Amino acid sequence: MEDEWSRWGLDLHVHLRPGTGHGLRTGLEHALRDAVRSGRLRSGTRLPSSRALARDLGIARGTVTQALDQLVAEGYLESKPRSGIRVAPQPAAPPAEIAPPSHATLRPVRGIDLRSGFPDLAAFPRREWLAATRHILQTAPNTAFGYRERAGAVELRQALAEYLGRARGVSTTPDHIVVCAGYAHALRLVCQVLRHHHGGSAGAFAFEDPTEPDHPALVEQLGHRARRIPVDRDGLIVEGLTDESAVVVTPAHQYPLGVTLSPARRVELVSWARRTGAFIVEDDYDGEFRYDRQPVGALQGMAPDRVIYAGTASKTIAPGLRLAWLVLPGGLLGALREATRWDESSVNVIDQLVLARLVQTGELDRHVRRCRARYRRRRDLLGQAVARHLPHGRLSGIAAGLHAVLRLPAGSDHEGPLLGHLAARGIHVEGISPFYQRPEQSPLAIVIGYATPAEHAYGGALSALVDALRERMPAIELQPRSG
Ligand SMILES: Cc1ncc(COP(=O)(O)O)c(C=O)c1O
Repeated sequence: MEDEWSRWGLDLHVHLRPGTGHGLRTGLEHALRDAVRSGRLRSGTRLPSSRALARDLGIARGTVTQALDQLVAEGYLESKPRSGIRVAPQPAAPPAEIAPPSHATLRPVRGIDLRSGFPDLAAFPRREWLAATRHILQTAPNTAFGYRERAGAVELRQALAEYLGRARGVSTTPDHIVVCAGYAHALRLVCQVLRHHHGGSAGAFAFEDPTEPDHPALVEQLGHRARRIPVDRDGLIVEGLTDESAVVVTPAHQYPLGVTLSPARRVELVSWARRTGAFIVEDDYDGEFRYDRQPVGALQGMAPDRVIYAGTASKTIAPGLRLAWLVLPGGLLGALREATRWDESSVNVIDQLVLARLVQTGELDRHVRRCRARYRRRRDLLGQAVARHLPHGRLSGIAAGLHAVLRLPAGSDHEGPLLGHLAARGIHVEGISPFYQRPEQSPLAIVIGYATPAEHAYGGALSALVDALRERMPAIELQPRSG
C-alpha cells in the first residue's frame, strides 16, 4: 500500500506509514501527536469529522475513531458536544533549542572532501601534543585539577595574551580573555554579554552577506535581531550599517568570499562603532594563514575598546579540540562576569594547559609555520589547475585561509545540478548560495576547501575536481587537459 496523505486547513499533512489495522491506527496517532507538539496543529483547531478523515486517508472509520479517542485520553485533543474534536490547549513550548553550528554537522564524507571548514587533520601535532601533555601531568600541582576560573585557566589566558599580541596584533591582558568551547559558544557568550550590557534588552546584530548562515541563526535564537550587510571587494560596506548594537565581521579573510577588509573600511568601521556605541565582533577564524605577505593584523589592535575579538584553534590545530577564545573590551568585563555566572568554560583543564604549554614553548608557532607552507603549496596547485584547465573560472579569496571561491562562467550548470554531478563522482564541495541571504541572487560559484585531503591525495583530488567541472563547463571554457 502506498503512503497515504490527508490535507486540511492551510498546510497540514498527515503522513501515514504503510501498514494495516493496528499499524494504521498507531501511525495516525503518531502523526497527530507530532503535528500538535510541533505546533502545526494549534490548540483550538477543529479536526475534520472522522468520516471525512477516514475517506481522505482511505482507512476504516473505526480506525480513525480509535486513534482520536486515544489522543483525547492523552490530552492532545478534546471532544465537546456539538463542536466536534479540537486540539486541546497545550503547555507553553520549551525554549527554542540552540541549533548546532554547521561545522558540527561537517561529518567526514566518503570520497574527496573539498568542503571548507577543516584544516588538514593529518597534520595534527600529535608528538608535540603528547609531549606537552606528559609535561603537564608530570609538573602541574594537584590544585591545577580542581575547579577552575570561569574565564578559563589563567596559564592559557596568559599564553594567549602573549601569542595574540605577537601573532595577531591583539592588544590585551589575560583578564580580558575568556576561553570558550568553539566559536558558537563564543558567539553565544557575546550575545549574553551584550544583553547584560544593555540592561537585559535584545539588540540588532549585523552580519556580512554572504556569511556562515548558522551564525545569524544562532543570534536570532538567542532573541536578538540579525541583519545582513553586503560585502564588496573591500569587505563589509560600512555605509550599510545603521543603528545595530553589534556587527560581526571576518576582516582578515571574509567568510566565505575571502576578501580582506581594506584599511579605509577598517577606519570607517571603527568610527561608526565609536559614533554609535556599537561593538564590532571580529571573527578571526583563520587569520594565521596569509600567503602573500605578513598576516594582516587584527582589527582589535586598532580599537580594543570597541572590538570583541574571537579566535579559535579549529584551523590552526583541529576543530575537535573545541578550543576558542574571546578578548573583550574593558567596558564589557562586568557584563562578562554576569554572563559567565552559570556558564563556565567547558574546555577541560588539561587541554587548556597543553595549549598554553605549546604557546610558551614556541611549538604552536612552529606548527602554524609548517601548516602555512603546506597550505600555500596546495593553494598554488589549485591556482595552477584552474588557470590551466578552467581558464574562464575565476578563483578568488586565495591570499589567505584554507578555502577559495571559484566563480564559474555563464552557461555552466546551475549550482544544485553541478554539486549533484560532483557528488556523483565522489567530490564534495559547497555551493556559495547558502551563504547569501537571498540564495537565488548569489553568483554561480563553489567554495573549495583545500586543506582537508591528505597530502598524498591532494593532487588526485584536484584532478578529479577539474575533470568533473570540465564536464559541465560551456564549450568556450574547454582547453586541452594535458600538462
Ligand atoms: C566563519 C567561521 N567562524 C568561526 C569558525 C570557527 O568555528 P569553531 O571554533 O566552532 O570551529 C569557523 C570554522 O569553520 C568559520 O568558518
